Amino acid sequence: MNTVKRVLLLGAGGWAREHWIDIVWPDFRDKVEIVGLVDMNEKALLSSGAVLGLSEEVLFTDMDKAFSATNADFCVIVLPPHAHRIAVEKAARYNLPILSEKPIADSYDDVKAIYTAVSKKKLKMAVIQNYRYEAPIMTLKKVLESKKLGRIDYIVARYASDYRQPGSWDVGSVYEMEHPLLVEGSIHHLDMIRNLSGSDCKTIQCTSWNPDWSNFKDNANAMVMMEMDNGVKAIYEGSSLAAGTINRWHQEYYRVECEKGSVVVDRGDRIVRVYTRDEDGKQTIEEIPPVSELASGHHQILTEFLRWLDGGPAPETVLDDNIRSAVMVFAAIKSAEENKQQIPRNFLPQL
Ligand SMILES: NC(=O)c1ccc[n+]([C@@H]2O[C@H](COP(=O)([O-])OP(=O)(O)OC[C@H]3O[C@@H](n4cnc5c(N)ncnc54)[C@H](O)[C@@H]3O)[C@@H](O)[C@H]2O)c1
Repeated sequence: MNTVKRVLLLGAGGWAREHWIDIVWPDFRDKVEIVGLVDMNEKALLSSGAVLGLSEEVLFTDMDKAFSATNADFCVIVLPPHAHRIAVEKAARYNLPILSEKPIADSYDDVKAIYTAVSKKKLKMAVIQNYRYEAPIMTLKKVLESKKLGRIDYIVARYASDYRQPGSWDVGSVYEMEHPLLVEGSIHHLDMIRNLSGSDCKTIQCTSWNPDWSNFKDNANAMVMMEMDNGVKAIYEGSSLAAGTINRWHQEYYRVECEKGSVVVDRGDRIVRVYTRDEDGKQTIEEIPPVSELASGHHQILTEFLRWLDGGPAPETVLDDNIRSAVMVFAAIKSAEENKQQIPRNFLPQL
């Protein structure tokens, strides 16, 4: 049954406006109808409502009224992470499937509460982890899956943005919150390490800190060392204060060292490069332009989510999978706080 689905959109400002309203929804007009829009900020609500051509009756500053007044088929959460729990708990009360922006939440307690609320009701919930569906990443993964480089030994990941000026990282309240890099940023990169290694994380050791010249209240930088269940090792460097070389959003550096060579994607051209050597040590560099038969990022996840609602397979980034990336973040935070290696599996919520 491929009927048009009715969606309640929670969040009308920031990323909801910049990406979901201006870029995603126009491509889903024949599949999704927005039947309600929620934001506590009236200005953002009215402005986004006008862009979407919605009447004032379906614009809500009160989340409860929105859930009770709209007969939606699912909801999309594009609120700041501290508001995810309240939105999920309300959606669970109405048995409404949920597609939520990452991260699941900004605190371990909220992640556990969300996981419990959704699991108890056997609700469908998926989390947006859009970087998995970028052409350079899909291309790099294909090289790994072809096995032409043999088994994976270790992964090196780098993310570095110049967010030294207050407000230059324009997501939520990153300059005020606890662990802004790990919670708001690194969730994408730790999830990517699971994605590329094809395994969950066995152990994690993290150092995170806030240099004197940082304008963030809490730690803006981190280094993380991991071992995955399948034996793959990984190292991650994350910086929100990069003054020199940059690997910002969509330009992250990933290098996968394998038995018979390495494969790299770097900033700039985003070409995937495969490095191998012949028996005499002569190096060959194969350049592979990024291609993917799937849609990119949000478009792909929303497409999979709609198919799931129609009885198709669950998206890759369902809550049961994404919780395994979320616990890496909270285990990393605990590791940094206690200067001790942690076992992310021990952080998985018990029902
Ligand atoms: N996937 C990505 O690449 C990506 C990129 C950017 C942001 N995000 C995510 O999108 C989400 C939203 O981020 P943002 O920067 O737009 O956040 P934001 O802090 O700018 O808030 C977005 C909107 O939510 C509203 N809001 C906040 N609390 C509310 C509540 N309790 N009830 C109703 N409305 C409320 C605010 O008024 C605001 O208009 C976050 O989870 C963030 O991590 C994802």
